[in-house]
Amino acid sequence: MTGNRISTQLRRMRRDWDRRARENARFYVATLQDRWSDDEFYRSGEATFQEQILTDLGNICQGKDPREMHVLEIGCGAGRVTRALGRHFGHVYAVDISPEMVRQARRSLSEFPNVRVYRNNGRDLSVVGRSWWSRWGIGPKLQLDFAFSCIVFQHIPNREIIESYVREVNRRLRPGGLFKFQVQGSPRVKVTEDDTWVGVPFSEPEARQMATRCGFEMRYHAGAGSQYYWLWFFKEREID
Ligand SMILES: C[S@@+](CC[C@H](N)C(=O)[O-])C[C@H]1O[C@@H](n2cnc3c(N)ncnc32)[C@H](O)[C@@H]1O
Repeated sequence: MTGNRISTQLRRMRRDWDRRARENARFYVATLQDRWSDDEFYRSGEATFQEQILTDLGNICQGKDPREMHVLEIGCGAGRVTRALGRHFGHVYAVDISPEMVRQARRSLSEFPNVRVYRNNGRDLSVVGRSWWSRWGIGPKLQLDFAFSCIVFQHIPNREIIESYVREVNRRLRPGGLFKFQVQGSPRVKVTEDDTWVGVPFSEPEARQMATRCGFEMRYHAGAGSQYYWLWFFKEREID
């Protein structure tokens, strides 16, 4: 796919997600209910945290103290899961393509000085920048200990954009570190270039090949063939 077509798709994603965020951010983040109280919304984030993080601390922390860990979330939305991450981990960096989602996430995370939310370009982590890291006195060499993303890639209709994120995470993650994320796994979905709701599906071999290309070992996976296809990518080697 050409650079122009990817740029058009990224613009579309920002436009659509921003519209959704202005209309009813919490509904589009978690479509189980169309009205969410603060309490319900953040409890659903805690539930995701319980299921995906607390049950998996061995792979995620690998013996490190969570309060000393640097953790990234891709596609944080209105901060549903980010709050739980902020409660548990020492330093959390969250990115999202939609300015309105970022505004709402920042508002909901205002009491968390250890969480930083960035609006990004929808394909890389360049905004998670050196200047911020150096403000924390840790210089340009900061390495992430863990990266996480849920209910985000299942909405991205373009494989190259997803792979761009996987490569970026490889560059920022410490050797051996885990990128745990969820993609669309159902082969039955109908993906079109101009639809920013239905993401491109991955089969197990496709996910494995992407891991290898991007310097990861895909050590585990769960939910192949379903909407919630979870992948555990452990960083094996540096890529260019
Ligand atoms: C369904 S919401 C999920 C939010 C959050 N992960 C959660 O579980 O509460 C999807 C989020 O992904 C963001 N998003 C979509 N495409 C993105 C991209 N290419 N880069 C970064 N964020 C993206 C949207 O703006 C939206 O906030």
